[in-house]
Amino acid sequence: MGKKVLVIGSGGREHALAWKLAQSPELERLYVAPGNAGTSEWNAPVAQNDIAGLVRFAQDHNIDLTVVGPEEPLSLGIVDAFHEAGLRIFGPTQAAAQLEGSKAFAKTIMQAANIPTAEWNTFTDPPAAKDYVRRIGAPCVVKADGLAAGKGVIVAMDLDTALQAVDEIMDGAFGDAGKKIVVEEFLEGQEVSLLCFADGTSALPMVPVQDHKRALDGDEGLNTGGMGTYSPPPVWTPEIEEQVKREILYPTLEEMRRRGMPFTGVLFLGLMLTERGPKVLEYNVRFGDPETQVVMMRLRSDLLQVLWACTEGKLGDVTLEWSNDVAVCVVMAAPGYPQSYEKGIPITIPAEVGQEGAVFHAGTALKDNRLVSSGGRVLGVTASGSNLVAARENAYSIVGKITFPKAHYRKDIGMKGMKGALT
Ligand code: AMP
Ligand code: GLY
Repeated sequence: MGKKVLVIGSGGREHALAWKLAQSPELERLYVAPGNAGTSEWNAPVAQNDIAGLVRFAQDHNIDLTVVGPEEPLSLGIVDAFHEAGLRIFGPTQAAAQLEGSKAFAKTIMQAANIPTAEWNTFTDPPAAKDYVRRIGAPCVVKADGLAAGKGVIVAMDLDTALQAVDEIMDGAFGDAGKKIVVEEFLEGQEVSLLCFADGTSALPMVPVQDHKRALDGDEGLNTGGMGTYSPPPVWTPEIEEQVKREILYPTLEEMRRRGMPFTGVLFLGLMLTERGPKVLEYNVRFGDPETQVVMMRLRSDLLQVLWACTEGKLGDVTLEWSNDVAVCVVMAAPGYPQSYEKGIPITIPAEVGQEGAVFHAGTALKDNRLVSSGGRVLGVTASGSNLVAARENAYSIVGKITFPKAHYRKDIGMKGMKGALT
């Protein structure tokens, strides 16, 4: 009997997951709630944070497995609600999701398990935070404790900016997420995202990815949810991977289990490869966006089988197979993103983008049967190639064939990897 699968979310990550799940020989029926224009053949009209509605949907449609994309429903306890209803779901419980939901919680786990990370402190009142900022000096990093869609982090290169950041965040620039702040040491190096499948006890890393968080070429401009990715980054080595497993991944899972909150789902390690070894910048408790787009393009194994094994605690039986190709994802965003942006821009995507390409939708909708933009990050144009140069060429050649007036996208996705390869 084939399996009925429900994917929750509406971004590029969810389109990529759906695209990959749709290739599974074990799949009988796929739903995406609420989805976007790219997933329209699978869409179900239930909002991603409507937990009761999603439980009801899964019961009414005999869903065998639910896969959660975004962090919000996880932090709201969707996994606990599904478990209570006797439904199978891939993702961490509300308790385990605190690894992303609270930066202070994440730091406590790292401290307890002796996991390498930046020196830090948490504060709930501005004068104490500022004293600490003055003590450690600039550069330093000021972060809202709670969820802020990847935007509640200010990397301050001078003292004034750092002090201002404390005021801004604590004055409510990120709402309740900033009632508590974390101030930490600035780390230097290359950033790598390592997404890992976890089944509560064991874990398997996926292929490493480099994201491009800043809005503009050359890593200028504001922080965004992510403007593009490529995999694998040449800075990554098997030795680094072993070190990350030994010093970060396994101790994190062990500490979570010890606390009675075993981690099942995707544990996403945001790493800085410093001169003194890899250190954790942050944990996320879900697939990354736009990391997932390139990871899915490189995954050869059946995603449905892997996710199922995780929910059974049987990840130990799984070996992941990957394509040796390089994959690149270029995010096409609405003009103005990550600040206020225009919506409703008509878009045309060529029907054929070739074997090695896929255009994953994020903020898109159908309006009178016409494809229009409906969010900040609109498309994730993804392509593979036998090397980084070829993969970049393939991705940007598809970008060139898309009609999306005033689209904003970076022209240098993956360039870091080319420089890295030469040095
Ligand atoms: P986070 O949401 O904590 O990953 O922070 C967002 C981005 O801010 C990261 O991807 C880094 O580029 C940057 N960042 C965060 N923490 C640090 C740090 N301690 N040192 C340098 N950069 C950081
Ligand atoms: N691309 C970073 C994230 O998904 O948080």
